Amino acid sequence: MSKTTPDLNSLWQARFGTLTNTRLPTSNTFTEVTSNQTIELLLRHRTQRTYLDKAISSETLDTILACALSAPSKSDLQQISIMVIEEPALRKEIAGLIPSMPWIEKAPAFLIFLADGHRIERICASRGIPFANDNLDNFIAATSDTSLALQNAITAAEAMGLGTCPISVIRDHMAMVADLLRLPQRVVPIAGLCLGYPARTGFVSMRLPPAVTVHKNHYDLSQVDKEIDSYDKRRDERFSIPTEAQKYTRKYGVTEFYGWSEDKARQMSKEERGQVGEFVRKTGFSLR
Ligand SMILES: Cc1cc2nc3c(=O)[nH]c(=O)nc-3n(C[C@H](O)[C@H](O)[C@H](O)COP(=O)(O)O)c2cc1C
Repeated sequence: MSKTTPDLNSLWQARFGTLTNTRLPTSNTFTEVTSNQTIELLLRHRTQRTYLDKAISSETLDTILACALSAPSKSDLQQISIMVIEEPALRKEIAGLIPSMPWIEKAPAFLIFLADGHRIERICASRGIPFANDNLDNFIAATSDTSLALQNAITAAEAMGLGTCPISVIRDHMAMVADLLRLPQRVVPIAGLCLGYPARTGFVSMRLPPAVTVHKNHYDLSQVDKEIDSYDKRRDERFSIPTEAQKYTRKYGVTEFYGWSEDKARQMSKEERGQVGEFVRKTGFSLR
């Protein structure tokens, strides 16, 4: 096998928009590590929101579910459940809560990933053993398991030629979704997942460079502002955010250069889902 791996270099370039990587030698190219199907799949990841009118076979879906459930689990507690939304009327009702995202109704399949603290509490109760491990850390454990399962589902789906779109916006309507799904106590909807064969090629969404997001031994802020600035410019060169997509222009105006960081700062100027903590506590997680 050739020692040079232009493939990995181009995949890296597509993901970060630059080959600058503090871990590479000065040549800034990969010479030792070769790409493989898994690495390529992960580096090529892209969210897909439009799908062909092509059904997903039950074997394909079952394989995706099995892969999701193969994700690691904190202490093997397996605090995760996945809801497969099969009834068209139920899907319509959930999608109707989020009209701004028509892909929820149109996707050939729709799943909801649930942080599930119910089962383990039930196991304790059935043995007459006190359930005392109820704090914020245990909720983090359940949501981490759920996120890992979600990622495995995404990777498995992409490996079989499907595209996906996670849906956190279901958390805008947590109580309603929990009601529609008849969730028991201590089961919290974390994210939906649209699945389907992609109708478009899509594009790789450029990430912040490792110079910002990877630290060595101690958290390092020295390059952050400069690196974010050049990331904004790199990203804008590849895909500039249209003027009409600028957020909250009444408050912040229309700016000539509107990069990723301006967009995210404006997004974070408004609280989202302030009701989630209260809802999660109501389900029974103490979060203390
Ligand atoms: C947990 C999670 C929730 C998300 N929720 C939504 C959502 O509600 N609607 C949507 O259209 N995209 C959603 N996304 C997709 C992100 O917008 C997308 O991952 C991000 O823009 C980066 O693009 P990429 O996945 O193509 O790299 C979500 C992604 C994650 C990981």
